[in-house]
Amino acid sequence: MQRISLVKLAHDFIGKILHSGDIAIDATLGNGYDTAFLMSQVGLSGKVYGFDTQPKAIDATAVKLGEQTCVTLIHASHAEMSANIPVHLHGKIRACMFNLGYLPGGDKRMTTQVESTLAALNSISKILAEDGIITIIAYPSHQGGAQEMVQVKNWCEQLDARQYTFKTVYSDEYNSTAPQLFVVCKAQALHNLLSLRSLIIPSTKGHIMSEFSNVSVVKKANVYFGGNVSSRTIRFADGSLKTLGFMLPGEYTFNTADKELMEIIDGELEVLLPDSEQWQPIKGGEAFDVPANAQFTVKVSTATDYCCSFLK
Ligand SMILES: C[S@@+](CC[C@H](N)C(=O)[O-])C[C@H]1O[C@@H](n2cnc3c(N)ncnc32)[C@H](O)[C@@H]1O
Repeated sequence: MQRISLVKLAHDFIGKILHSGDIAIDATLGNGYDTAFLMSQVGLSGKVYGFDTQPKAIDATAVKLGEQTCVTLIHASHAEMSANIPVHLHGKIRACMFNLGYLPGGDKRMTTQVESTLAALNSISKILAEDGIITIIAYPSHQGGAQEMVQVKNWCEQLDARQYTFKTVYSDEYNSTAPQLFVVCKAQALHNLLSLRSLIIPSTKGHIMSEFSNVSVVKKANVYFGGNVSSRTIRFADGSLKTLGFMLPGEYTFNTADKELMEIIDGELEVLLPDSEQWQPIKGGEAFDVPANAQFTVKVSTATDYCCSFLK
């Protein structure tokens, strides 16, 4: 089953925020791929600070990047982040990436730990710029990873909602052992820029199931917009509901009661999500989600087949 690349998504989010001359932190250097990405964003006029507790990771990153004045590699726990970042840069960190777990190709027992991860998250939340972003990729399948993922999610949930928005992206929402990406964003302006409350999830083709077993189907069709949009409701054994529907070309505005995940099976449309002023193109194999009690509009250009899941 193809999974969404959470690293690529994290880079996409950060890429919208982090620019030339900015300051960023790679909280988990590993083999330096994320550092290289952050460096390419900030350029020679910016600065990247990278942390890792393993000398092997520091060396791998140093070899990967070569001599660079815009990068400082720090052999210390990310829990010590604040103490290692010059005080005059506190409040100016534009982006911070956490890619938790173990060093790929290294000792799998040497993983990030809940206590230091949470300490580092508390640190970065104090020194992040007003328009900064934090991404955290958590892997539940290694020893202690599931607990770490839950704790990271709890940390995100306890953030002051007046200051922060966070979004969880599942690489495979049907598999509890699949990694998750948490995107934490400061400042209202960024919420709009990223449309964080309603996120386009690319390349989900692999995780859209091709059939559902053991479901009951409501005989009567749901018919909207004079029949231009219609669907059938299917009920799962656990009581959850989805609709399988079809939209003819046209423009339609929908209201949501529950949070919805709209998977486009085939076809093409543009969507205007709540809190966004930009139409976004969506095609078969992609998906987007919409919060509860919101409104979204689609402009359908070719006959479009969809599956809508109602999420509690
Ligand atoms: C999944 S890897 C990171 C991958 C990396 N970002 C890349 O692009 O290759 C996780 C890394 O976190 C490091 N790590 C574990 N505990 C840490 C801590 N307390 N502070 C900083 N790094 C830590 C591990 O040594 C490992 O290299």
